[in-house]
Amino acid sequence: MAILHFSSSSLISKITHSPRRRTIRSSQDSIKTHKNLITTDSFSSFSLCPCGRRHFLGAIPFLPISPSSASTSTDALKRLRPPKPDWYEEFFAWSMNTEMESYEKEISDYKTKLFDNLVGKKTEKVLEIGIGTGPNFKYYSTIPNVSVLGVDPNAKMESYARKSAIEAGLKSKDFTFIHALGESIPLEDASVDAVVGSLVLCSVTDVTRTLNEIKRILRPGGIYIFIEHVAAEDGSLLRLVQNVLDPLQQVVADGCHLTRHTGDYILEARFNGGADIKKAYLSSLAYISSHVYGVAYN
Ligand SMILES: C[S@@+](CC[C@H](N)C(=O)[O-])C[C@H]1O[C@@H](n2cnc3c(N)ncnc32)[C@H](O)[C@@H]1O
Repeated sequence: MAILHFSSSSLISKITHSPRRRTIRSSQDSIKTHKNLITTDSFSSFSLCPCGRRHFLGAIPFLPISPSSASTSTDALKRLRPPKPDWYEEFFAWSMNTEMESYEKEISDYKTKLFDNLVGKKTEKVLEIGIGTGPNFKYYSTIPNVSVLGVDPNAKMESYARKSAIEAGLKSKDFTFIHALGESIPLEDASVDAVVGSLVLCSVTDVTRTLNEIKRILRPGGIYIFIEHVAAEDGSLLRLVQNVLDPLQQVVADGCHLTRHTGDYILEARFNGGADIKKAYLSSLAYISSHVYGVAYN
């Protein structure tokens, strides 16, 4: 994926919404949103995005996949994400596999802290939405007995993801690739301990529906950890650039939107235990530098 490079100022904001504990943390600036404060403290940052489709699920009988939701899932795949040419999916998977190295280096401290939330709890079954080429596998290695289900509509991601899983030391039986959409996950209610998503809500067709699916499949007490690129500040030069590039980005980066307010969507999904959301500006991926990351509690 073609990316402009520049350095941005280092900032992180923290958004906290919790029905039980409506906490607001502040340090320097604060900006009022419709139902939360977004506060900013100093830190350093990163950024990016992209996406595709494939065959099916019957191959994993040990999973709590209901046949009815599996067929619903196939329908959803066709309806929400019409098939793309093989060459496009292959090219996109290849570019994600080859072009993200510097981004992954820059983001690794953030991811390490985020994935720490999975350690020491009963986290044996994790679903990753939009698993792509599997850049997050290395963060699962500290979690005992973990098995990872990776949902992705781009079948060409599977071989890259399998390779990443093995390189990270996961046994092949502990990774299952599921050809499906975040909007229609073919798993039973309350069937996973955690959901992980990185750079995926920019690409799904329906963000709200995807978040509702995450809530549905998470067990009570389960957590959703995320790191997503988002729209830059309203009125900023970066936002203007994003507005101009957004239509092109969707074409070249498999449906990726540059101007989504993903943090707001996560808050509006109203996870039972609320959500802690931080905001980061990262330097390695230019017009995709604004991010949110954090944890939502089911
Ligand atoms: C930018 S890539 C990110 C991949 C990976 N999560 C990462 O951090 O590198 C976006 C991924 O989301 C997948 N995707 C696109 N639409 C999706 C949907 N509706 N549901 C689930 N995954 C989707 C794409 O196929 C692609 O693998």
